[in-house]
Amino acid sequence: MENILQTIDLWKTYNPGTPQAMDALRGVNLCFVKGRYYAIIGKSGCGKSTLLHLLGALDTPTGGKILCAGEDVFARSRRELARFRRRQIGFVFQAYNLLQEHTAWENILMPLHLDGRDADEGYLQRVVQLLEIDGLKNKYPSQMSGGEQQRVAIARALAAKPAIVLADEPTGNLDPNTSRQTLRLLKETVADLGQTLILVTHDMDVAEQAQEQIRIHQGEITEIIHREG
Ligand SMILES: Nc1ncnc2c1ncn2[C@@H]1O[C@H](COP(=O)(O)OP(=O)(O)OP(=O)(O)O)[C@@H](O)[C@H]1O
Ligand SMILES: [Mg+2]
Repeated sequence: MENILQTIDLWKTYNPGTPQAMDALRGVNLCFVKGRYYAIIGKSGCGKSTLLHLLGALDTPTGGKILCAGEDVFARSRRELARFRRRQIGFVFQAYNLLQEHTAWENILMPLHLDGRDADEGYLQRVVQLLEIDGLKNKYPSQMSGGEQQRVAIARALAAKPAIVLADEPTGNLDPNTSRQTLRLLKETVADLGQTLILVTHDMDVAEQAQEQIRIHQGEITEIIHREG
């Protein structure tokens, strides 16, 4: 089994060296295997978003390392790090974060355009089909429901064919039915494309569908549950 991401004694302290210093992660050691589906669970403030941001290199650790396919992510130059983020990582946020003045299709293509690359048409067509958003391409975010916007945001996260998809409470703003449908489509899409999915959730029903549940308590991993299948 191939480790796509690994954290080694990962620490994150906010405001280090000040009276407000806060150890959000305290020595996290985790291995993420290519193509698997992980759920990160734990109480509000335990460090879930902090961990996801570090895994996606949106923020830097104060101690320890992250390896991607064996290579030290933060040993790279800023430029290489930005490239890693654009090409290897897809991020889905709770607030869909679509650009309001652009259509769904323009939003989906945006990360590729920023990277100066053309879309793999066949692949994107497959993503659009799997997420059932073909009919939304020319709509603006204000013309779409929350669930539709989130499916477009997922397509945008997948557009650059990232190996790793990070999702932070992606259905936190959706009603239970829409949430279930969106997660089903996300799960089926990443499985079909062979991507690794790491998802933060408060919802135990959602967490139980993952192949691995990782529980965090006050910045430390307290439990990992494997589910076969
Ligand atoms: N930028 C920041 N500056 C200072 N402290 C921060 C910052 N971001 C997070 N924290 C603190 O770090 C701890 C972990 O925060 P984090 O956002 O990772 O929690 P979380 O598990 O995602 O919580 P939630 O479920 O509410 O989203 C919290 O105590 C939080 O107050
Ligand atoms: Mg959070």
